[in-house]
Amino acid sequence: MASRGAFNSRIGFILAAAGSAVGLGNIWKFPFEVGEGGGAIFLVMYLAFCFILCFPVMVTEIAIGRKTQKNPVGAFNALGFSKWNFVGKMGILCGVLILSFYNVVAGWAFGYFLEMVSGNFGIGANFGGYINDIGRVGLYGALFMFATAWIVSKGISGGIERAAKFLMPTLVGMILLLVAYALTLPNAMNGISFYLVPDFSEVNLGVVGSALGQAFFSLSLGMGALITYGSYVSKQDNIVQSAAFITLADVGIAFIAGLMMFPFVFSQGLEPQGGPGLIFVTLPGIFETFGGSMGIIIGSAFFLLLSFAALTSTVSLLEVPVAYVVDELKIERKHAVWVVALVIFLIGVPSMIANGDSQFFTSFITYIGAAAPTDFMTFVGDVANDTLLPLGGFLIVMFAAYVWKKENLNEEMEIGFPNKNSLVLKYIDFAVSYLCPVVLGCLFILTVLNKYFGISLFG
Ligand code: TRP
Repeated sequence: MASRGAFNSRIGFILAAAGSAVGLGNIWKFPFEVGEGGGAIFLVMYLAFCFILCFPVMVTEIAIGRKTQKNPVGAFNALGFSKWNFVGKMGILCGVLILSFYNVVAGWAFGYFLEMVSGNFGIGANFGGYINDIGRVGLYGALFMFATAWIVSKGISGGIERAAKFLMPTLVGMILLLVAYALTLPNAMNGISFYLVPDFSEVNLGVVGSALGQAFFSLSLGMGALITYGSYVSKQDNIVQSAAFITLADVGIAFIAGLMMFPFVFSQGLEPQGGPGLIFVTLPGIFETFGGSMGIIIGSAFFLLLSFAALTSTVSLLEVPVAYVVDELKIERKHAVWVVALVIFLIGVPSMIANGDSQFFTSFITYIGAAAPTDFMTFVGDVANDTLLPLGGFLIVMFAAYVWKKENLNEEMEIGFPNKNSLVLKYIDFAVSYLCPVVLGCLFILTVLNKYFGISLFG
């Protein structure tokens, strides 16, 4: 029998879960979503969604995982509700889809490390050419998936914990230093006011939907990644406190990444609406301003650390389908890992060529009522990230509150929590039973109608 493994310590779980949460979502995706979502107003909604809606969902996922000690499909079966295991199956599909494009971007970031090492600061202006050099980015993507699979094949406690322990703080320290530098640059204050002074006229349903999707994505929620990680958590741990720490750490890192990026973008005279290329276009020019070898050191350290942050996230994404295959199909971990990784890499190939290289995948689909076609990579993100994750979150809280029953959820939540009358517990109970189902349910319907069908119920 294949063994499942377990975290060695509470701090091991927190670091691994934080490692899953912190990644390209914070440093690559968050800034460009803010840029496209009208600046500060997106930030405000993102913060509200993370703390008010997502934190209770996170506690719920970890509780289900710890209670059942299973992967997201097995968890529903173990609680006696196998009809609900479609939620877990949807989560696994979602993880596969997300990893397929996430790995491509992780490959870009790793390639940038190599470019910075060779002092090629001009790569920023040539980003479009770079991502269409399929031989190269294909190789980086393959290397990245290989590294991910290798770590996952070593099992949970060996691989993930050790990597997360020292690299995360280093990355945070580096971003803070870059924030300090950013604030000294010309035009920095325009960036800061774009990022921090809300313009309420920019609010629309599309922005609300992407802020919600970003909150789920950034916290690794809605697809059972934290059910899977929760399944390795010990019965003594305080999961509410762990979830609070993970949420704060993840949101904090996204926040400082924004503080760094917008002064950089404005000081370089670039547009914040730069889309997925935003950090890749902006940062090399900034590193160049440090001058010769200093620029090389800082630039390559930055992209190397970003690659590691991405790696702890790709590991968590791969872990979900692998845990499923190991538990449910009884295939040995060391075989399961490589097969699953290969399949996901292949699913990612269309995303790799969807940025101009292949006309078919670049203009893949035109949503009803949309002016322009959507490329394959964005399409996969729209479906998996902005649609399936919030839907998964909705279904998970509905399940916990009304099928598994909230008494059972509360009981699991209270294990390891010293004060049973705490307001936090009361809030989570309220959010899981009423607030999350209502808000997530309504937003799901509104954003799906709006995004794919061009129907806006509010003018
Ligand atoms: N949260 C990660 C990031 O911000 C990405 C990620 C890892 C993820 N595991 C996930 C997203 C599970 C959704 C679900 O980079």
